[in-house]
Amino acid sequence: MEFSLLRKLFLFSFFLPSFSLAQSTSSDASIDQKVASLLSKMTLEEKIGQMNQYNGFWESTGPAPKEGSAKLKYEHLKKGWVGAVLNVTGVDNVRRLQEIAVKESRLGIPMLFGSDVVHGYKTLFPIPLAESASWDLNAIERSARLAAVEAAAVGINWTFAPMVDISRDARWGRVMEGAGEDPYLGAKIAFHRVKGFQGENLALPTSIAACAKHFAGYGFAESGKDYNTVDIGTYTLYNTVLPPFKAAAAAGAATFMNSFNILNGVPSTANAFLQRDILKKQWGFKGFVVSDWGSGAEMMDHGFAKDLKDVAKLAANAGSDMDMESYAFIAHLKSLVEEGQVDIKVIDEAVSRILRVKYQLGLFDNPYKYCDKRQEKTKLYHPDHMAAALDMAKKSIVLLKNQGNLLPLNKSQKNIAVIGPLATDKNSPLGNWRVGSDDHTATAVTEALTASKINYTYEKGVELVRGKTSFPDPVDLNMTDTAGFSQAIALAKNSEVVIMVLGEHGMQSGEGRSRASLDLPGLQQELLEAVYQVNKNIVLVLMNGRPLSITWADQHIPAIVEAWQLGTTSGTAIAEVLFGDYNPSGKLTMSFPRSVGQVPIYYNHYKTGRPGPKSEVFWSHYNDESNKPLYPFGYGLSYTTFSYTDFELLEQPSGQVRVSVKLTNTGSRAGEEVVQLYLHDKVASQVRPVKELKGFQKVSLAPGESKMLVFELGSNEFGFYDPLGNFVVEPGEFEIMVGGSSENLLRRNWSYK
Ligand code: NOJ
Repeated sequence: MEFSLLRKLFLFSFFLPSFSLAQSTSSDASIDQKVASLLSKMTLEEKIGQMNQYNGFWESTGPAPKEGSAKLKYEHLKKGWVGAVLNVTGVDNVRRLQEIAVKESRLGIPMLFGSDVVHGYKTLFPIPLAESASWDLNAIERSARLAAVEAAAVGINWTFAPMVDISRDARWGRVMEGAGEDPYLGAKIAFHRVKGFQGENLALPTSIAACAKHFAGYGFAESGKDYNTVDIGTYTLYNTVLPPFKAAAAAGAATFMNSFNILNGVPSTANAFLQRDILKKQWGFKGFVVSDWGSGAEMMDHGFAKDLKDVAKLAANAGSDMDMESYAFIAHLKSLVEEGQVDIKVIDEAVSRILRVKYQLGLFDNPYKYCDKRQEKTKLYHPDHMAAALDMAKKSIVLLKNQGNLLPLNKSQKNIAVIGPLATDKNSPLGNWRVGSDDHTATAVTEALTASKINYTYEKGVELVRGKTSFPDPVDLNMTDTAGFSQAIALAKNSEVVIMVLGEHGMQSGEGRSRASLDLPGLQQELLEAVYQVNKNIVLVLMNGRPLSITWADQHIPAIVEAWQLGTTSGTAIAEVLFGDYNPSGKLTMSFPRSVGQVPIYYNHYKTGRPGPKSEVFWSHYNDESNKPLYPFGYGLSYTTFSYTDFELLEQPSGQVRVSVKLTNTGSRAGEEVVQLYLHDKVASQVRPVKELKGFQKVSLAPGESKMLVFELGSNEFGFYDPLGNFVVEPGEFEIMVGGSSENLLRRNWSYK
């Protein structure tokens, strides 16, 4: 067959394209020597101790407890049997534990202090899904950098971030932690987040080790239910799930975390195919793999391991190097080695990987590198961090609808009503995964309006949750109390314009927060419709950690602003967009469904045999819903408009294709546009997606200004992974598309030779 011959000409392994993995340097070689020398001095117990991680908050607020498991941990610490702890923060707490490890254990090996610094420590940046909507890789890297600066200032030297799981399912609460549905964009963002956390190199004072997680497939939990079964083929694994992980490895991520799910029936923690074959062998990853919290012991619940000893054997042999909170390695690895069930080489390799990261961080030179009280005093909430957080928050906002140019509003306008429970909320905009933050520290929308001297009147309208606490967990929604409706309706009746701030409680997304409905929670939809009855001039500001199905709002409400959970400076960013101080430029990185029944819905789906209505009934569609999302991937409006012209393709002598297009700002305001480039492989040896993102540029233009943009496409972009993980590039017919959204594109055909 013609194809198979041609593809052989271009056969690569999964190892090769996109990014070249970091080469060893001489300092790597000297670290390797130090590791080998230290390893030769360690007893088996001390080696296994390095592979053991405890949750250590019990130590952080007082002297080491003398009883129970806490006492055991303390004894282990003194023996050098704890390689890392998590959730111990604050310079004094970290120093105190580090001193025990360094001064009281025989070899004095310093510990790693891990924490989930996901979108900032004290200064909170937008949740990662929101940041991804900026498509601004430098700004995203800066957020990670500043998060690392604050984390390093409180003793943390290892963050369990970035989460690089691709997900197509908005029901899954953890989509807030990721970069959306696309592997190309996801890989770019993963690369920059790792670079941000780790800085120029790990030895620098504010560099902390990153952890790409959750390896792998966790974002494909069936029915969007967290921790559920994952059942994907290797074709999707290689093309969709793995690219961001590979990019994280290429960026030099010091660590990876495995995941709770199974892949091909094998839990990730015991998955040698993922951890050994792909990550360590094919990609040449030199860091270590930590299990997810208890993911080892959970293999017993999976019915995959019969007891904790089995857990230790399966996990270690499969390449899990450190055990987070399963207590399996510390309890059983010694006897497993003695019985010959785990080779000592497995232990030596894992420990070498862990020690290597500690050397890279400079912890052997200075175990208290991250214990500087001056840094702790000066770096948290630093004004530069707050300014960067505000900039990032503005960049993350997506304008979804703006009928009749209702936005931006006029600052001198009188009679503005502000309605909705989230308008005054200072907690929910901080989002989930905020281990170090102070409660109620986000700027509320109403506070920002007051600060900008906007004349408004506020009515809450409805409580989002029941009870007095603002962080009930699990979130206990108010489904009955409509007492506030009448005041809100009365206010709206007498106002010229109504800003409604609605959405999700800050704890409705994140780990363990799956939802079966994507509607506005509680009674907010009812409130929206009731207000609409008396005043149609509504600007809906959404705060949420995932795409919502807001079809009714799209049909009725003239202006809709997606403001996610934007972190500490949330309200200010929103006010600047509403009143035109900032022209929004964000574009969605996850499709918004019309209804939850469409989920999983994503732009880069494979082609089917029945794509269009050849008959009324027998084609791939719903009888009661459109196939289209409400808002597609890549979509987002601006207060100005852009035109795309002069779209040309030119073959280069190198065989690359030069794609050029002219972008013009056709409106009357300066603005930014995310120009997107997509490919479609028309006929291939595997069924290919209808389109795939293969390039983008964020461009800023003055009114009337034009710019010629150029993209280069080559084998990396035209190729794909076959189900065995080989990268194949097949000559043939393609479509090349450019535009400002995955659904609004100029198209040209191209024969790739
Ligand atoms: C479980 C989560 O899945 C993981 O992402 C996190 O890093 C660990 N807990 C530690 O908090």
